[in-house]
Amino acid sequence: MPIYIGVARESAPGEHRVALSPETSEKFQALGVKVVLETNVGLDSHFMDAGFEEVAFSQDLPGVYSKAQLILRVTPPTPEEIAALPEGSVLIGLLKPFEDKARLAALNARKITAFALELLPRISRAQSMDALSSQGACAGYQCGLIAAARCTKFFPMLTTAAGTIRPARVLVIGAGVAGLQAIATCKRLGAMVEAYDVRAAAREQIESLGAKFVDTGVSADGTGGYARDLTDDEKAQQTEKLAKAVALSDVVITTAAIPGKKAPIIITTDMIARMKYGAIIVDMAAESGGNCALTQPGEHVVANDVNIHGPLNLPSRMPTHASELYAKNLYNFLSPWIKDGELNFDWSDDVVAGTLLCKDGVTVHSVVKQVMGEA
Ligand code: NAI
Repeated sequence: MPIYIGVARESAPGEHRVALSPETSEKFQALGVKVVLETNVGLDSHFMDAGFEEVAFSQDLPGVYSKAQLILRVTPPTPEEIAALPEGSVLIGLLKPFEDKARLAALNARKITAFALELLPRISRAQSMDALSSQGACAGYQCGLIAAARCTKFFPMLTTAAGTIRPARVLVIGAGVAGLQAIATCKRLGAMVEAYDVRAAAREQIESLGAKFVDTGVSADGTGGYARDLTDDEKAQQTEKLAKAVALSDVVITTAAIPGKKAPIIITTDMIARMKYGAIIVDMAAESGGNCALTQPGEHVVANDVNIHGPLNLPSRMPTHASELYAKNLYNFLSPWIKDGELNFDWSDDVVAGTLLCKDGVTVHSVVKQVMGEA
């Protein structure tokens, strides 16, 4: 019997993305599965119902979930939505695995096989499934655009009849996927861009985009290609060296993150006090606490005439492309395990096992268990 893939409208406030595109719907169906969608599921991404061919529609989420064995989502389900998931069904999405113990318990109570894409191993083979990267690229691009739109200066150098305008100075702190995209976006807009990251490999990537690397002498590579927490001495050294670059910048974009942890505070109140009047901070880490001491998640605050923006859910500001990429990530993750309309995972596969959050009523991911106190 072919399984049904079910997708309902995302219920999180401000969430405009959707986990299935007309293109991936067609590709899944070519593998023999069926698709059931909530009416207007892709409306906010401008994927109209008529664009999803050969699918069944239901008026509401319970109608979709009651029919489905595999549920695709962008954001974690609410308690009511978890209650509507068929017991033993498979759920995949950006499930925020380190955020909510009660949600994990509720998923386990319904014996949901849940995959959290945040846990996907960052290995070459899994790049096409990497939702943190696809959505990070959207977020970094949006940061560059927010900064340019809010800046009271031109980004590019401009020669006019009235005289020459110097380009804006942009500093990007944290050069992972999002930071690199922010650098590239600001460079395309003509700004003078400097950037900094604690991982040694980031230097070459920053320079390959034509930006200048700010060397603080601190190198903090952790496990799995990620950064580690800095020691107090390293933090002091970083603060001292970065303060000068921050003070000279018209725009500072911060994207520094440590997986599963609160974002490190990098821009202190002292640094803000020494910034240029009218300067802008776009703190992409606002969602996990912020890289700037004064960031208010989701708000714009002004301190010492410095504008501090803490935008949330940046990929959702460009839902068409964010959804297209995310839907492809899901297809690339799932399609190797779908044959003749049936879903059969190889539980020993590194990518499957690494992304698995819970199964058969228990949390199985070792890091999540440890962080959430279930070990
Ligand atoms: P992330 O969102 O976890 O962190 C953003 C950046 O913040 C990272 O580059 C990190 O080094 C930096 N950071 C952390 N603490 C900092 C501090 N105190 N000061 C300055 N910077 C700080 O990173 P993302 O974008 O998820 O990528 C993390 C790693 O995974 C990178 O090494 C990236 O190259 C790698 N990666 C590998 C992929 C693959 O092979 N499939 C795909 C995507 C990323």
